[in-house]
Amino acid sequence: MYYSDDIVEEVRARNDIVDVISGYVKLQRRGSSYFGLCPFHNEKSPSFSVSPSKQMYYCFGCGAGGNVFTFLMEYENYTFPEALKVLADRAGVSLPEVEYSEEAKKQRDLKSAVLEVNKMAAKYFYYQLRAPQGEKAMEYLKGRALSDETMRRFGLGYAGPYSDELYRYLKKKGISEELMKESGLMSVNERQGMYDKFWNRVMFPIMDINGKVIGFGGRVMGDAKPKYLNSPETVIFDKSRNLYGLHIARTSRKKYILVCEGYMDVISMHQAGFTNAVASLGTALTSQHASLLKRYTDEVILTYDSDEAGIKAALRAIPLLKAAGVSTKVLHMDPYKDPDEFIKALGTDAFQERIDQAENSFLFELSILQKDYDMKDPESKTRFFQAVAAKIAEFELEIERENYIEAVAEKYQISFDGMRKMVMNCLMQGVPLRAKTTSAERRQVRPEKEDGILKSMRLLLTWLSEYPGLYKTVSAYVKPEDFTDELYKEVAEMLYEQLEKGELNPARIINHFTDPQQQRTAAQIFNTKVRAESQAEQEKAIRESIYKVVNHGITQKTKELGAADIQGLQKLIEARKRLQELGRLHISL
Ligand code: GTP
Ligand code: MN
Repeated sequence: MYYSDDIVEEVRARNDIVDVISGYVKLQRRGSSYFGLCPFHNEKSPSFSVSPSKQMYYCFGCGAGGNVFTFLMEYENYTFPEALKVLADRAGVSLPEVEYSEEAKKQRDLKSAVLEVNKMAAKYFYYQLRAPQGEKAMEYLKGRALSDETMRRFGLGYAGPYSDELYRYLKKKGISEELMKESGLMSVNERQGMYDKFWNRVMFPIMDINGKVIGFGGRVMGDAKPKYLNSPETVIFDKSRNLYGLHIARTSRKKYILVCEGYMDVISMHQAGFTNAVASLGTALTSQHASLLKRYTDEVILTYDSDEAGIKAALRAIPLLKAAGVSTKVLHMDPYKDPDEFIKALGTDAFQERIDQAENSFLFELSILQKDYDMKDPESKTRFFQAVAAKIAEFELEIERENYIEAVAEKYQISFDGMRKMVMNCLMQGVPLRAKTTSAERRQVRPEKEDGILKSMRLLLTWLSEYPGLYKTVSAYVKPEDFTDELYKEVAEMLYEQLEKGELNPARIINHFTDPQQQRTAAQIFNTKVRAESQAEQEKAIRESIYKVVNHGITQKTKELGAADIQGLQKLIEARKRLQELGRLHISL
């Protein structure tokens, strides 16, 4: 699908970014920009800025940034066409009928049709629960101490005792059998034909991040098996990419997210005020879940069941979360099985206490490891501590290792120096490198020099967008090709073109990129902060940036130069000479 640049730009220009974002974030004017609490990470003081002149947002805390399209794509999880459509509607711009490929059109229509059927089913179940025939189900839920308000918030419902109620209802509404099958709400067998998958169960609609119903979980009201039945995966329901309760939890503004196992646990926790609780959908936590969580938080507290299976699930989840850059703690529920039972027995305050006491995931892993060793036998005990030392040696940073040595020494009442020596030994023997470095780690080991030069490039482009008057001076020295990073170069080319025509419009440049990651980087390029006290300092910083970028460009080109390219070499020598004169250049803002 393709919309012309002009229509994309028209929609963008007719939706003032400050207006749009104000609908989501409380913004306050500060100087030429607006500031508010970043909706993409948790913070106490505002580092999220929206610039009316650039028509961009950027968070100095987490690096989220882009134009008005990027914002909706990130906040609402929209695809680009969805964001475009919403903003076009908002501004009253009519989009040309796009020509979908036949296949894409079918897929899109199928998705929205399945969503529609799910919505009908959810309404149907919701109504059944509150009708006379739902009395037993209502009793069951009340018996589990759920309030009317909670049932409403989670859209709980009831699938009646006959196995063709929903089928007949949907049929009456004109839904085809084909579509019913796609929705995952029906089962088929030869004898009965098509019949309801869910009957005589209390129903938990599963919502995506935008609150749209994408599937269901249904629970029997007694001890029959299977206890829960869940919708199968469909065109709109991907269990490894959705978390139950996240559409509410993402707005809870707590520092951490509670991750548990069951629907009932999520609901109980929310009812008790812990509205930052989510659960995976009857499957183990996946790395996609971990990345999804990372979008909303840096810290997860696992509130898995206290049984064997819960411990296993926690041990599997911890490294996945770590790889996504999320730090993890483990909450101890004992002597209760799950959060629902715990809260019912001991109440909210006691649960909060357990949250406050949640154990660091590394120490949790150690206490599980310890079960394999006989701590009363000196030899076995020594082997345990050797295993501990080997695990500590895997931490990359010395300070991190020291902190864990200290924690372990205290937890197991052993000598700090002794533990430290063991860790040193492991390091000297060389612990096996972990198979995969996380993206967070990769960012850390990225050479400082490269980052330094990128920063200079960003500074130059930020300044050019803030002081277009600098363009003549800067462009005399720095050409777009001096921006040696591909994305930076593209941005520079477009910015130069705009400045050449006297039509500065950074937000339009962002339209050019469709991948949110690229949009984010492009936004960062235009929002680089400089810490300069005085104007003189700022001018000096600009001079330095010009020098660094051009110098880097020359060095790069020298490396690529063929040995016989005398002319090319001559050019570079001249360029270097000119660069030396830069010291005398007068720059004024
Ligand atoms: P309650 O007994 O209602 O409190 O359930 P729970 O939340 O304590 O459930 P449990 O810990 O037994 O299971 C956790 C989650 O696993 C549930 O929310 C379901 O998503 C899933 N689950 C549990 N039992 C079944 C089952 O029999 N079949 C399937 N497919 N999923 C199940
Ligand atoms: Mn339970």
